[in-house]
Amino acid sequence: MKRRRLIIDCDPGVDDATALLLAFASPKELDILGVTVVAGNTGLAQTVRNARIIRQIAKREDVPVYAGCARPMVRDIVDAGEFHGESGLGPLPIFEPDAPAAEGHAVDFIVRTLMAADEKVTLAVTGPATNVAMALVLEPRIAAKIAHIVVMGGARSAGGNITASAEFNIFADPHAAHVMLTAGCQVTMFGLDATYQVLTTPARVTALEAVATEAARASALLMRFSNELEVKPPRRAGSPLHDPCTIAWLLKSDLFVVSGAKVSVETNAGLAFGHTAVEFRADADEVNANWVIQADGQGVFDLIVDRLGRL
Ligand code: RIB
Ligand code: CA
Repeated sequence: MKRRRLIIDCDPGVDDATALLLAFASPKELDILGVTVVAGNTGLAQTVRNARIIRQIAKREDVPVYAGCARPMVRDIVDAGEFHGESGLGPLPIFEPDAPAAEGHAVDFIVRTLMAADEKVTLAVTGPATNVAMALVLEPRIAAKIAHIVVMGGARSAGGNITASAEFNIFADPHAAHVMLTAGCQVTMFGLDATYQVLTTPARVTALEAVATEAARASALLMRFSNELEVKPPRRAGSPLHDPCTIAWLLKSDLFVVSGAKVSVETNAGLAFGHTAVEFRADADEVNANWVIQADGQGVFDLIVDRLGRL
Protein backbone atom coordinates (compact mmCIF):
# COMPACT_ATOMS: atom_id res chain seq x y z
CA MET A 1 0.00 0.00 0.00
CA LYS A 2 1.29 3.49 -0.87
CA ARG A 3 2.01 5.55 2.24
CA ARG A 4 -0.03 8.75 2.56
CA ARG A 5 2.04 11.90 3.08
CA LEU A 6 0.50 13.76 5.97
CA ILE A 7 0.74 16.94 8.02
CA ILE A 8 -1.21 16.89 11.29
CA ASP A 9 -2.32 20.29 12.58
CA CYS A 10 -3.51 20.12 16.18
CA ASP A 11 -4.05 21.76 19.58
CA PRO A 12 -3.22 18.99 22.13
CA GLY A 13 -5.64 18.55 23.84
CA VAL A 14 -6.61 15.24 25.44
CA ASP A 15 -8.25 13.87 22.30
CA ASP A 16 -5.60 15.34 19.97
CA ALA A 17 -3.16 13.26 22.02
CA THR A 18 -4.84 9.98 21.10
CA ALA A 19 -5.12 11.11 17.49
CA LEU A 20 -1.36 11.77 17.42
CA LEU A 21 -0.59 8.43 19.08
CA LEU A 22 -2.76 6.61 16.54
CA ALA A 23 -0.97 8.35 13.67
CA PHE A 24 2.50 7.82 15.16
CA ALA A 25 1.64 4.11 15.55
CA SER A 26 0.82 3.71 11.85
CA PRO A 27 4.08 4.29 9.92
CA LYS A 28 3.19 1.70 7.28
CA GLU A 29 0.24 3.80 6.14
CA LEU A 30 1.18 7.34 7.19
CA ASP A 31 4.33 9.24 6.22
CA ILE A 32 4.00 12.09 8.74
CA LEU A 33 5.96 15.02 7.30
CA GLY A 34 5.37 17.15 10.37
CA VAL A 35 3.07 18.09 13.22
CA THR A 36 2.02 21.74 13.25
CA VAL A 37 0.54 23.15 16.42
CA VAL A 38 -1.96 25.93 17.05
CA ALA A 39 -3.45 27.65 20.09
CA GLY A 40 -6.85 26.20 20.90
CA ASN A 41 -7.63 23.94 23.82
CA THR A 42 -4.93 25.81 25.69
CA GLY A 43 -2.29 28.41 24.82
CA LEU A 44 0.34 27.81 22.15
CA ALA A 45 3.29 27.27 24.49
CA GLN A 46 1.36 24.43 26.13
CA THR A 47 -0.04 22.88 22.95
CA VAL A 48 3.48 22.78 21.46
CA ARG A 49 4.95 21.25 24.62
CA ASN A 50 2.09 18.77 24.74
CA ALA A 51 2.64 17.71 21.12
CA ARG A 52 6.32 17.11 21.95
CA ILE A 53 5.35 15.08 25.04
CA ILE A 54 3.07 12.83 22.99
CA ARG A 55 5.75 12.50 20.30
CA GLN A 56 8.22 11.33 22.98
CA ILE A 57 5.73 8.83 24.43
CA ALA A 58 5.33 7.45 20.89
CA LYS A 59 9.14 7.45 20.40
CA ARG A 60 8.66 9.35 17.13
CA GLU A 61 11.16 12.17 17.47
CA ASP A 62 11.83 11.65 13.74
CA VAL A 63 8.71 13.79 13.13
CA PRO A 64 9.27 17.55 13.47
CA VAL A 65 6.88 19.62 15.60
CA TYR A 66 6.37 23.25 14.55
CA ALA A 67 4.80 26.03 16.60
CA GLY A 68 2.13 27.93 14.71
CA CYS A 69 -0.40 30.67 15.35
CA ALA A 70 -0.90 31.83 18.91
CA ARG A 71 -4.29 33.44 18.22
CA PRO A 72 -7.20 33.21 15.78
CA MET A 73 -7.28 35.24 12.54
CA VAL A 74 -9.87 37.81 13.60
CA ARG A 75 -11.84 37.00 16.76
CA ASP A 76 -10.51 37.14 20.30
CA ILE A 77 -8.83 34.00 21.60
CA VAL A 78 -10.81 31.39 23.51
CA ASP A 79 -9.72 28.08 25.04
CA ALA A 80 -11.35 24.85 26.19
CA GLY A 81 -9.59 24.47 29.52
CA GLU A 82 -12.71 23.07 31.16
CA PHE A 83 -12.39 19.97 28.93
CA HIS A 84 -8.61 19.58 28.90
CA GLY A 85 -7.38 20.66 32.32
CA GLU A 86 -4.70 23.14 33.38
CA SER A 87 -1.92 21.61 31.26
CA GLY A 88 -4.10 20.71 28.29
CA LEU A 89 -3.37 17.02 28.89
CA GLY A 90 -5.62 16.41 31.90
CA PRO A 91 -3.89 14.29 34.57
CA LEU A 92 -1.00 13.15 32.34
CA PRO A 93 2.38 13.79 34.03
CA ILE A 94 3.91 16.86 32.38
CA PHE A 95 7.64 17.00 31.64
CA GLU A 96 10.02 18.95 29.40
CA PRO A 97 10.50 16.68 26.37
CA ASP A 98 14.02 15.86 25.19
CA ALA A 99 13.57 16.96 21.59
CA PRO A 100 12.81 20.64 20.93
CA ALA A 101 10.28 22.06 18.52
CA ALA A 102 11.64 22.65 15.02
CA GLU A 103 12.94 26.08 14.04
CA GLY A 104 10.55 28.29 12.08
CA HIS A 105 6.82 28.92 12.00
CA ALA A 106 4.28 26.21 11.27
CA VAL A 107 2.62 28.28 8.54
CA ASP A 108 5.93 28.64 6.72
CA PHE A 109 6.54 24.90 7.12
CA ILE A 110 3.13 24.08 5.60
CA VAL A 111 3.70 26.44 2.63
CA ARG A 112 7.32 25.33 2.08
CA THR A 113 6.50 21.62 2.31
CA LEU A 114 3.46 21.75 0.04
CA MET A 115 5.13 23.92 -2.60
CA ALA A 116 8.14 21.59 -2.73
CA ALA A 117 6.06 18.40 -2.74
CA ASP A 118 6.29 16.24 -5.86
CA GLU A 119 3.01 14.59 -4.85
CA LYS A 120 0.00 15.92 -3.03
CA VAL A 121 -0.09 16.00 0.78
CA THR A 122 -3.01 15.28 3.12
CA LEU A 123 -3.79 17.59 6.04
CA ALA A 124 -5.43 16.31 9.23
CA VAL A 125 -6.79 19.28 11.17
CA THR A 126 -7.89 18.67 14.76
CA GLY A 127 -7.89 22.16 16.22
CA PRO A 128 -8.85 25.65 15.09
CA ALA A 129 -7.87 25.94 11.41
CA THR A 130 -5.78 29.09 11.87
CA ASN A 131 -2.46 27.63 10.63
CA VAL A 132 -4.05 26.07 7.56
CA ALA A 133 -6.03 29.19 6.69
CA MET A 134 -3.02 31.47 7.13
CA ALA A 135 -1.00 29.19 4.86
CA LEU A 136 -3.74 29.36 2.21
CA VAL A 137 -3.81 33.17 2.48
CA LEU A 138 0.00 33.43 2.37
CA GLU A 139 0.31 31.11 -0.66
CA PRO A 140 -3.01 30.23 -2.36
CA ARG A 141 -1.21 27.89 -4.77
CA ILE A 142 -0.86 25.31 -1.99
CA ALA A 143 -4.54 24.42 -2.46
CA ALA A 144 -3.58 22.51 -5.61
CA LYS A 145 -0.94 20.59 -3.63
CA ILE A 146 -3.39 19.37 -0.97
CA ALA A 147 -4.65 15.84 -1.60
CA HIS A 148 -7.34 16.00 1.09
CA ILE A 149 -8.19 17.85 4.27
CA VAL A 150 -9.72 15.66 6.98
CA VAL A 151 -10.95 17.94 9.71
CA MET A 152 -12.65 17.58 13.06
CA GLY A 153 -15.06 20.45 13.46
CA GLY A 154 -18.60 21.70 13.24
CA ALA A 155 -21.97 20.33 14.19
CA ARG A 156 -25.30 19.85 12.45
CA SER A 157 -28.12 18.09 14.25
CA ALA A 158 -25.99 17.48 17.36
CA GLY A 159 -25.95 21.17 18.29
CA GLY A 160 -22.89 22.89 19.70
CA ASN A 161 -20.51 21.90 22.52
CA ILE A 162 -19.06 25.32 23.32
CA THR A 163 -22.20 27.34 22.61
CA ALA A 164 -25.70 26.11 21.84
CA SER A 165 -24.97 26.28 18.13
CA ALA A 166 -21.19 26.01 17.67
CA GLU A 167 -18.53 23.32 18.04
CA PHE A 168 -15.26 24.47 19.64
CA ASN A 169 -12.78 24.20 16.73
CA ILE A 170 -14.98 26.26 14.45
CA PHE A 171 -16.07 28.66 17.21
CA ALA A 172 -12.42 29.27 18.13
CA ASP A 173 -11.62 30.50 14.61
CA PRO A 174 -14.67 30.64 12.28
CA HIS A 175 -12.89 32.87 9.76
CA ALA A 176 -10.14 30.29 9.40
CA ALA A 177 -12.72 27.54 8.92
CA HIS A 178 -14.36 29.63 6.20
CA VAL A 179 -11.03 30.09 4.38
CA MET A 180 -10.32 26.36 4.61
CA LEU A 181 -13.80 25.35 3.39
CA THR A 182 -13.75 27.74 0.42
CA ALA A 183 -10.25 26.91 -0.87
CA GLY A 184 -11.51 24.29 -3.33
CA CYS A 185 -9.84 21.34 -1.57
CA GLN A 186 -11.30 17.86 -1.05
CA VAL A 187 -12.58 17.94 2.53
CA THR A 188 -13.94 15.25 4.84
CA MET A 189 -15.47 16.82 7.91
CA PHE A 190 -16.10 15.10 11.25
CA GLY A 191 -18.70 17.15 13.10
CA LEU A 192 -20.10 16.32 16.50
CA ASP A 193 -22.85 14.34 14.76
CA ALA A 194 -20.19 11.75 13.91
CA THR A 195 -17.92 11.99 16.94
CA TYR A 196 -20.83 11.55 19.35
CA GLN A 197 -21.09 8.05 17.84
CA VAL A 198 -17.56 7.23 19.08
CA LEU A 199 -17.75 7.20 22.87
CA THR A 200 -15.10 6.24 25.38
CA THR A 201 -17.33 3.85 27.29
CA PRO A 202 -15.85 2.34 30.48
CA ALA A 203 -15.60 -1.08 28.80
CA ARG A 204 -13.60 0.37 25.92
CA VAL A 205 -11.28 2.30 28.23
CA THR A 206 -10.74 -0.86 30.29
CA ALA A 207 -9.79 -2.71 27.10
CA LEU A 208 -7.25 -0.01 26.30
CA GLU A 209 -5.85 -0.07 29.85
CA ALA A 210 -5.11 -3.76 29.37
CA VAL A 211 -2.64 -2.94 26.57
CA ALA A 212 0.88 -2.97 27.98
CA THR A 213 2.35 0.11 26.33
CA GLU A 214 2.98 3.59 27.69
CA ALA A 215 0.99 5.03 24.79
CA ALA A 216 -2.09 2.92 25.56
CA ARG A 217 -1.87 3.73 29.27
CA ALA A 218 -1.56 7.45 28.53
CA SER A 219 -4.51 7.42 26.14
CA ALA A 220 -6.68 5.49 28.61
CA LEU A 221 -5.77 7.93 31.40
CA LEU A 222 -6.86 10.84 29.22
CA MET A 223 -10.11 9.09 28.34
CA ARG A 224 -10.90 8.41 32.00
CA PHE A 225 -10.28 12.10 32.67
CA SER A 226 -12.73 13.10 29.93
CA ASN A 227 -15.29 10.63 31.22
CA GLU A 228 -15.26 12.33 34.61
CA LEU A 229 -16.61 15.40 32.86
CA GLU A 230 -19.59 13.52 31.46
CA VAL A 231 -21.65 14.26 34.53
CA LYS A 232 -23.66 17.10 33.04
CA PRO A 233 -26.64 16.50 30.77
CA PRO A 234 -26.96 14.73 28.39
CA ARG A 235 -24.71 12.25 30.34
CA ARG A 236 -23.58 10.05 27.48
CA ALA A 237 -22.21 6.51 27.98
CA GLY A 238 -18.73 7.97 27.59
CA SER A 239 -17.04 11.09 26.28
CA PRO A 240 -16.93 11.60 22.52
CA LEU A 241 -13.58 10.75 20.93
CA HIS A 242 -13.41 13.65 18.50
CA ASP A 243 -9.94 14.03 16.98
CA PRO A 244 -8.88 10.38 16.61
CA CYS A 245 -11.76 9.93 14.12
CA THR A 246 -9.75 11.91 11.55
CA ILE A 247 -6.79 9.52 11.75
CA ALA A 248 -9.07 6.47 11.94
CA TRP A 249 -10.65 7.65 8.67
CA LEU A 250 -7.22 7.85 7.03
CA LEU A 251 -6.47 4.31 8.18
CA LYS A 252 -9.87 2.64 7.75
CA SER A 253 -12.35 4.85 5.90
CA ASP A 254 -14.90 2.02 5.76
CA LEU A 255 -15.60 2.65 9.44
CA PHE A 256 -17.50 5.75 8.36
CA VAL A 257 -20.31 6.87 6.05
CA VAL A 258 -20.22 10.34 4.48
CA SER A 259 -22.61 12.52 2.52
CA GLY A 260 -21.71 15.44 0.28
CA ALA A 261 -22.84 18.81 1.59
CA LYS A 262 -22.34 22.52 1.33
CA VAL A 263 -20.89 23.54 4.69
CA SER A 264 -21.00 27.24 5.53
CA VAL A 265 -19.71 28.95 8.65
CA GLU A 266 -21.40 31.81 10.51
CA THR A 267 -18.74 34.49 10.99
CA ASN A 268 -21.00 37.34 12.06
CA ALA A 269 -21.01 37.89 15.82
CA GLY A 270 -24.13 36.85 17.64
CA LEU A 271 -25.90 33.78 18.97
CA ALA A 272 -24.96 31.59 15.98
CA PHE A 273 -21.31 32.74 15.79
CA GLY A 274 -19.20 29.75 14.63
CA HIS A 275 -22.25 27.69 13.62
CA THR A 276 -21.81 25.32 10.67
CA ALA A 277 -24.78 25.17 8.33
CA VAL A 278 -24.64 21.74 6.65
CA GLU A 279 -26.79 21.67 3.50
CA PHE A 280 -27.22 18.20 1.97
CA ARG A 281 -29.60 19.59 -0.69
CA ALA A 282 -26.77 21.58 -2.32
CA ASP A 283 -26.16 21.39 -6.05
CA ALA A 284 -23.14 19.29 -7.03
CA ASP A 285 -21.05 22.38 -7.79
CA GLU A 286 -21.82 23.81 -4.34
CA VAL A 287 -20.66 20.74 -2.41
CA ASN A 288 -17.45 21.65 -0.53
CA ALA A 289 -17.19 18.79 1.98
CA ASN A 290 -18.05 15.18 2.68
CA TRP A 291 -19.88 15.40 6.00
CA VAL A 292 -19.54 12.26 8.12
CA ILE A 293 -22.98 10.96 9.04
CA GLN A 294 -22.15 7.55 10.51
CA ALA A 295 -19.24 6.19 12.57
CA ASP A 296 -18.50 2.68 13.81
CA GLY A 297 -17.48 3.49 17.39
CA GLN A 298 -16.37 -0.02 18.27
CA GLY A 299 -14.39 -0.27 15.06
CA VAL A 300 -12.56 2.96 15.87
CA PHE A 301 -11.74 1.62 19.33
CA ASP A 302 -10.54 -1.71 18.03
CA LEU A 303 -8.19 0.18 15.71
CA ILE A 304 -6.87 2.35 18.56
CA VAL A 305 -6.29 -0.66 20.82
CA ASP A 306 -4.49 -2.54 18.03
CA ARG A 307 -2.25 0.36 17.00
CA LEU A 308 -1.37 1.76 20.42
CA GLY A 309 -0.30 -1.74 21.35
CA ARG A 310 2.43 -1.44 18.74
CA LEU A 311 4.14 1.65 20.23
O1 RIB B 1 -15.08 20.12 19.78
C1 RIB B 1 -14.07 19.16 19.87
C2 RIB B 1 -12.77 19.73 19.42
O2 RIB B 1 -12.42 20.82 20.24
C3 RIB B 1 -11.61 18.73 19.54
O3 RIB B 1 -10.66 18.99 18.55
C4 RIB B 1 -11.04 19.03 20.90
O4 RIB B 1 -9.64 18.74 20.99
C5 RIB B 1 -11.24 20.52 20.98
O5 RIB B 1 -10.14 21.13 20.34
CA1 CA C 1 -8.34 19.31 19.12
